[in-house]
Amino acid sequence: MFKITRKKELGPGVKLFDIEAPLVAKKAKPGQFVILRIRENGERIPLTIADYDPDKGTVTVIFQEVGKTTKELGKKDEGDSIADFLGPLGVPVEFLNYKRVLAVGGGVGVAPLYPKVKMLHQQGVEVISIIGAKNRDMLILEDEMRAVSDELYVCTDDGSKGHHGFVTDVLKQILEKDTDFDEVIAIGPAIMMKFVCKITKAYKVKTMVSLNPIMIDGTGMCGGCRVTVGNETKFACVDGPAFDGHLVDFDEMMRRQSIYKDEEKLALERAEGREHKCRLT
Ligand code: NAD
Ligand code: FES
Repeated sequence: MFKITRKKELGPGVKLFDIEAPLVAKKAKPGQFVILRIRENGERIPLTIADYDPDKGTVTVIFQEVGKTTKELGKKDEGDSIADFLGPLGVPVEFLNYKRVLAVGGGVGVAPLYPKVKMLHQQGVEVISIIGAKNRDMLILEDEMRAVSDELYVCTDDGSKGHHGFVTDVLKQILEKDTDFDEVIAIGPAIMMKFVCKITKAYKVKTMVSLNPIMIDGTGMCGGCRVTVGNETKFACVDGPAFDGHLVDFDEMMRRQSIYKDEEKLALERAEGREHKCRLT
């Protein structure tokens, strides 16, 4: 069993857990993820590692309560345990001889972006960060991102904090004046990463994205996380989750992400006792 040692609410329905998992904490690197199960035979949830502390033996994960299982996970408290915590999985990211990076994070995607920016900052790389959310309450890790960024731009869709609009507006403004970046790192909803890549392609700035397709086993066996990158089939769990964003087929990924939308909705309705029962027969 894996104990939850800290629980924090970062925004409406967005939770942070520190989980006691010393072996994972010892090996974890930025860019990697874990798969957890609340109980034996439960649903497997892939979550990117948001932080890790090898001394304390804890791994930090951040998740949004969107479906049946993440809502159930959100009800767990400090001191409770979960059955499985498998990892670290995926290929760690590496930044060799980088001097300047532009980091773009949208919504809960700021959680997997943070450890990469922190590592770059520790390596002495200049990082300009842009983070965005629907509104000020949904913004996560603002202070943490500010602490590891040379400049931080905040955006909200409703204008309740920072720039009124999408992260892509600020990205365009920056690249209009300055394209001298070794890389742009973009993590967030697929639609955000698609439009970030469209902009950075026009400005010819190399771009890394981190993909979150449906995952099941996390070991390259089931094919659930299949994505097309540069016309080749890749498995996000073993070949990624980080890829060259200019080569990713985002439209296909978004289609595949929504394959089980109806089943996910039904599972949540059942769990909440809202399942439609036909009384016509
Ligand atoms: P959201 O929908 O609130 O979007 C976050 C920000 O992304 C917005 O504030 C905006 O700045 C930008 N954005 C959104 N749509 C855009 C568009 N059309 N053009 C340009 N910019 C746009 O984010 P959310 O509700 O937190 O999103 C949750 C999504 O993030 C889920 O789909 C989840 O799967 C995904 N997610 C991805 C990762 C990852 O590793 N890639 C990690 C966690 C969550
Ligand atoms: Fe099964 Fe990647 S999650 S192949």
